[in-house]
Amino acid sequence: MRILALFLLCLWLQSCNTNQKSETKDSETTLVRGELSMDSQIFLGNRLFSEKTCITCHDAQKSTIGPSVKEIMKVYKKENGNIVAFLKGEAEPIVEASAAQIAMMQVNIKGFLKNISDEELGAIATYMLHVDELNK
Ligand code: HEC
Repeated sequence: MRILALFLLCLWLQSCNTNQKSETKDSETTLVRGELSMDSQIFLGNRLFSEKTCITCHDAQKSTIGPSVKEIMKVYKKENGNIVAFLKGEAEPIVEASAAQIAMMQVNIKGFLKNISDEELGAIATYMLHVDELNK
């Protein structure tokens, strides 16, 4: 069912084929999972970021309850961090935050994040990596 939904999403975007061809030389090709083009992943990740309520604590540009996506990505790019591993509870937090904030995010990881598939977490991570391109 999920595969079908993703397939329809691709069809709807009508960009899978053309994008995949032009991306084969791109060093980011390794980020493309399954049949989804980079654009489709960013699109899906953006949607999941709202649907899964990440957006309530993480604004793209401004730090609110949690650090902004921009701030998180600055640290993850510099430290070569793995967002999917963090979201699965397999990696320590690396963004500067208070103990209360760290505890808050850990509650998410032990709770509702368990219901998000690896593919979806991958799409969320790809969206976060490209957030600046979307907000220009
Ligand atoms: C209830 C508020 C809340 C929600 C909802 C939330 N977060 Fe967070 N998140 C935080 C806070 C606070 C921090 C800072 C503590 C930390 O770095 O662990 C954080 C940190 C992070 C970090 C950086 C971790 C690090 O290395 O320090 C990532 C990545 C992240 N969140 C992703 C997400 C994603 C993806 C979602 C949605 C699936 C989400 N968060 C939902 C509050 C939230």
